[in-house]
Parts: sequence; structure tokens; C-alpha cells
Amino acid sequence: MPACRLLGEAGCPMRIANKGFIVPELIAPPVKHTLSAYGVWLFTDKNPTLKKIKKRVAPSVHGDRHWDSSYLLMDYFSEHRPRKNTRVLDVGCGWGPTSIFFALQGCKVTGMDVDTDVFPFLDAQADLNAVKVEKLICSMKQMKKKDLANYDVIVGGDICFWDELADEWFAMLKRAASAGVKKLVLADPGRQPFLDLIDKCDKKWPTEHLIWLALQPKKFEGSLMIVTLND
Ligand SMILES: C[S@@+](CC[C@H](N)C(=O)[O-])C[C@H]1O[C@@H](n2cnc3c(N)ncnc32)[C@H](O)[C@@H]1O
Repeated sequence: MPACRLLGEAGCPMRIANKGFIVPELIAPPVKHTLSAYGVWLFTDKNPTLKKIKKRVAPSVHGDRHWDSSYLLMDYFSEHRPRKNTRVLDVGCGWGPTSIFFALQGCKVTGMDVDTDVFPFLDAQADLNAVKVEKLICSMKQMKKKDLANYDVIVGGDICFWDELADEWFAMLKRAASAGVKKLVLADPGRQPFLDLIDKCDKKWPTEHLIWLALQPKKFEGSLMIVTLND
């Protein structure tokens, strides 16, 4: 058997074979112990590069794996493709699954995280996918209006899990709106601080709450908050 992975679920790469049959495309993983989601290659637990990084650093604010909400963002933006060169800020980027997805779409991406220890994982996975992601070690509180003016879209996956994070988000979004950022798309399993943030945003900007389903690398249902900060 060749070292290939068959991707056959909805949304996976497909090709038209002889006589017009549609069959899943054979995609060879770049290295062993990786998985694919929406065109992004990510390390699995047994990957030797991942194991080496884990020996060196230990993220301490939950940036210790890929979180499923990132797949919700990938699925949503596979349907609502961002324009090339869109400037994207991935807040609480962790190991970078969402940042890498946007970089593969031709966006200019900055992965921002308060925890410096997540970045060796992001760097290694950006290399695996042959993309460039700018890095910013920063908390939401520290992002000033002039910093936020550098972005068109803000995204985040699983980064509204404490009440104080909902407060930080709301304060940062007010600065982002006055800095000209157009849109926020935040994904979450549906925790209370995330739902509270939706209520607060809804009073200030056009805000949607969507229940969304990701199909790769496995089925995962969660919530998306979409806020139009500027038209
Ligand atoms: C649950 S992880 C999600 C990581 C990534 N978004 C994903 O989907 O795999 C949350 C991340 O947010 C970061 N974080 C927590 N509080 C933050 C803050 N106030 N500002 C920026 N990043 C923060 C953590 O260091 C961690 O990497």
C-alpha cells in the first residue's frame, strides 16, 4: 500500500476520474503522524517533531493541543472564502491551525497569543504546510487601536472560556471597530462567556449566532459568532 490517505468525507478533495465518476483524491501526507483538515496538515500526538517540542516548552493557558473550534472556522471560511491578501488576526492562535488555514487561502495572517510557548508548535506546523504566519506575543488587553488598524478580519477559536476573556474581547472589539476592522468570526463549543459576549455585541453591532458543523478531521458541532464591526 502506498503511504497515502484517502479523504472521502464531504468537503474533502475530490477529482473527476475516467468516465466522469467523482472519486476521493489520493493525498499523500507530507510526513508520518499527521492529519488533514480542510487542506491543513497538522501533527498528531505520535509525531516526532511534536514530541520534541513538547520536551522543550509547556504552554500554560490551554494552548496545549489543537482545539476543535478551529475546524468550525475552517469550514465556515471554506464556504465564505476570504479575498486574497485579506489581513487576518487570529487571536489566541495556539498551535496555529486557523492561522495556517488562512495563510493557505492567500491571506496575510498574524497569529497572536499571550503564551510564548505556543509558537514553536505554530512555527513547525507552518513549515509543514509551507506557509508564512506572522507571530505576535500579546494579550487582547495590550492590543491598541493603532495595532488593530492593521487588520480587516479578526478570528478566534476556543478563546472565550472565562468571564474575564469575554470582557477582554468586548473591550478589544470596541477598539477594533473604531480602528476600521470589518468583521469578527469567533468559534466556540457554546460556553457561557461566549454566549454572554454574543448578547453584549448584539446590542452594539449587527451580530449573528450560527450553529455550525465541521466535517474534518471528524464531525464537530459548535457555535459561530459573526459580528459586523464596519460595513
Ligand atoms: C483553548 S486555546 C485555543 C488555541 C487555538 N485557537 C485552537 O483553536 O487550537 C486558547 C489560546 O488562547 C491563548 N490566550 C488565552 N488568553 C489570551 C489572551 N488574553 N490574549 C491572547 N491569547 C490568549 C492561550 O495561550 C491559548 O493558546
